[in-house]
Amino acid sequence: MSSINYAEKIPNNVNLVSDRTLQRALEHWQPHFLQWWHEMGPSDFEASDVYLRTAVSVDAQGWAQYGAVKMPDYRWGIFLADPVQDRKIGFGDQMGQPVWQQIPGEYRSTLRRLIVTQGDTEPASVEQQRLLGHTCPSLYDLRNLFQVNVEEGRHLWAMVYLLHAHFGRDGREEAEELLARHSGDADKPRILTTFNEPVTDWLSFFCFTYFTDRDGKYQLKSLAESAFDPLSRTCRFMLTEEAHHMFVGETGIGRVVKRTLEVMKELGTDDPAKIRAHGAVDLPLLQKYLNFWCSSSLDLFGSEISSNSAANFAHGLKGRPDESQYEDHVLRDKNMKLRMPEGVQDVPMLNALNEIMRESYLKDCEIGLKRWNRAIERAGHAFRLTLPAPQFRRSIGAWTGLPVDPTGNLIDKKIFENQLADWIPSEADKAFVRSLMRKVIEPGKMASWVAPPERGINNLPVEYEYVKLH
Ligand SMILES: [Fe+2]
Ligand SMILES: [Fe+2]
Repeated sequence: MSSINYAEKIPNNVNLVSDRTLQRALEHWQPHFLQWWHEMGPSDFEASDVYLRTAVSVDAQGWAQYGAVKMPDYRWGIFLADPVQDRKIGFGDQMGQPVWQQIPGEYRSTLRRLIVTQGDTEPASVEQQRLLGHTCPSLYDLRNLFQVNVEEGRHLWAMVYLLHAHFGRDGREEAEELLARHSGDADKPRILTTFNEPVTDWLSFFCFTYFTDRDGKYQLKSLAESAFDPLSRTCRFMLTEEAHHMFVGETGIGRVVKRTLEVMKELGTDDPAKIRAHGAVDLPLLQKYLNFWCSSSLDLFGSEISSNSAANFAHGLKGRPDESQYEDHVLRDKNMKLRMPEGVQDVPMLNALNEIMRESYLKDCEIGLKRWNRAIERAGHAFRLTLPAPQFRRSIGAWTGLPVDPTGNLIDKKIFENQLADWIPSEADKAFVRSLMRKVIEPGKMASWVAPPERGINNLPVEYEYVKLH
């Protein structure tokens, strides 16, 4: 098992010291990263002591060490999961052959694009969440936000390492560009639309970590299958960090539901106006936020029919999440039925992999909904939270711009436009949610719209001072 060397300028478990050229190149990039963090990372809290976890090894048991850290001092580094002995390509036309430690020339530009696209989302999310600290609902939540932020910064390191180590000068240029594009920037935006959406309130943050970080999980899972072994190993370790981000989303939304149910009980009503007047989020409003972030995140899987993803699969670059759970790993003569605007179509499965990924993602999304709905049911209410149909509000693929309602029915365009404000947050809804966002920094105290968590971090009490503000 490879332990992490913290004695070096860049903590790593890849024996960086043995490759002086690479080490120098990354040490040259490091101050640019820190400057980016300073300018685009969490605004203000640089002097605060944050109770953060840091990776100390890459094995499943006890990889993390906890302690008070000032964020600019976080030890961002390069951590790859241990190699699997004699690992073989698990899918595609070269299935069964040994995996690659170096990139075959013909796949260079495609792999570079995949790595850059993944890498671009990591700093983007930090930029999107930059101002949230100022309206934190508790110190516990503030700490979780910062934990997510530093780890997204580390995910950027993970991708930049691959670019530097395997793509020469092109890779170094891409690494610089990853710091030059910015979320929402008019001239140099981030690559994917969802990562240019502002995340300016905590309800959006919880939805983002639930839906968009979960897209990240699915992308990482499919890249973890890659025949390019360093990419696979990098993604496998990133997945262990990603799990915490989705925990923040799932428990965050769960705590919102819990608080709303308490207020409904206290007031003896489900009248949204009364619940809002009491400083809580009514369930129909939460549903609108779920609709917005779920539909936005669904676009990240790409078009229903894609020759690019077919080629990526056939070449062994990107598999399906949990590839081993499937029986057929080549998919050369399989078809599947796909719902398209013109009706159901029979398409080669190889070309429908984006849709297969989207479906398994949606199944994963259902897990939290079941839990939240159980709480609503137990409280004696008929309301149920749902996921929007995958055809709703799409801006990529066959359903782009079509008037589909959240249950998946193609409807009249006028009716769609008139009803949209009932399905996703209206300006008035957003203004209300913004009005709830007030900073609560007394240890153990929570904002009016969210229940306390069941337990604290790393067995500490909820009342622990997770962030010491200076
Ligand atoms: Fe990430
Ligand atoms: Fe994440």
